[in-house]
Amino acid sequence: MTSEIKLLQLFDWDSPGEKARLREELAAGLLQPQASIAPKFFYDALGSRLFEAITELPEYYPTRTEAAIFDEHLPEIRRILGADFSLVDLGCGSCAKAGKLFHAGLLPARYVAVDISVDFLRDSLQNLKRELPAIDMMGLGLDFTDELRLPDELPLERRMFFYPGSSIGNFSPPEARAFLKRLAGQMDATGGLLIGVDLIKDKAVLDAAYDDALGVTAAFNRNLLRHVNARLDADFAIGDWRHVAFYNEADARIEMHLEARRGVDVSWPDDTTRRTRHFAAGERIHTENSYKYSPAGFETLLSEAGFTDIRMWTDPRAWFALFFARQGSTRT
Ligand SMILES: C[S@@+](CC[C@H](N)C(=O)[O-])C[C@H]1O[C@@H](n2cnc3c(N)ncnc32)[C@H](O)[C@@H]1O
Repeated sequence: MTSEIKLLQLFDWDSPGEKARLREELAAGLLQPQASIAPKFFYDALGSRLFEAITELPEYYPTRTEAAIFDEHLPEIRRILGADFSLVDLGCGSCAKAGKLFHAGLLPARYVAVDISVDFLRDSLQNLKRELPAIDMMGLGLDFTDELRLPDELPLERRMFFYPGSSIGNFSPPEARAFLKRLAGQMDATGGLLIGVDLIKDKAVLDAAYDDALGVTAAFNRNLLRHVNARLDADFAIGDWRHVAFYNEADARIEMHLEARRGVDVSWPDDTTRRTRHFAAGERIHTENSYKYSPAGFETLLSEAGFTDIRMWTDPRAWFALFFARQGSTRT
């Protein structure tokens, strides 16, 4: 038993190569007629803390609904996962969800915590290791939209991927299918995927969950601009931007935007010069989608991605679903 964790940092916000790539990505998004910035920019250490605060808001039902499903079905989930497995937590954040499962007796042999918010990941994992020194723990700092490379030392057998919180909803359905396919390719038939998925429901409930009365989600959304300024030397004036979030029923997704309160010019550097974009008052930057699914729709997505033996648990209001599925085809 040791209080040591291993941290493999495969993504470094500040390395010159990564910075150049991120600036290109930023320019590609900001220079489109409908401007966008990728949701991964939400997550500097402050963004990670703001997300933790969101999970405590009365309007934000997903975290507590998912936790209630776990509480109710833990013995069955423990039986399905079996013993001597590795838990790979995708976008682990504070590691609180995994920690809660470990304290409830769902104990993996190895825990691999994956997140792009590397400093927050290091602190969270060190705290968890102090609480549970018997579990082998490793942190992987990477951008899993880019590539998900698991270290060779992680046995291929009994890899259980844990992807809670409906983070899968940040991908469009075709992107989600491709991502799930990549996950299926990272395990064999002894492995599986335990994934939390937010379900289609009343628009008023969804609107409130992403636009809370306290304004914490607004702060989380606007912090993305602060992060882009700090990392990539852009010059967004945060006060010029207003949080906008709504459920788009036609596309079954929450959309989050930042809307210019007045006409503003924004600039950021590239290799040789600064690039600029003018935003008219009312123009928006699209920062996040959060797709909602029907149970049958998500089951189809899992099958199309190569998963089988699909089980689903939900809450009495059918607001959220937890799925477990095994890899059903040969490894790619
Ligand atoms: C919505 S939070 C969910 C946190 C936690 N798993 C939960 O369910 O409460 C999304 C997490 O994924 C991480 N994340 C977002 N985009 C990522 C990416 N492209 N690669 C790796 N981690 C990412 C964020 O840093 C954050 O911790």
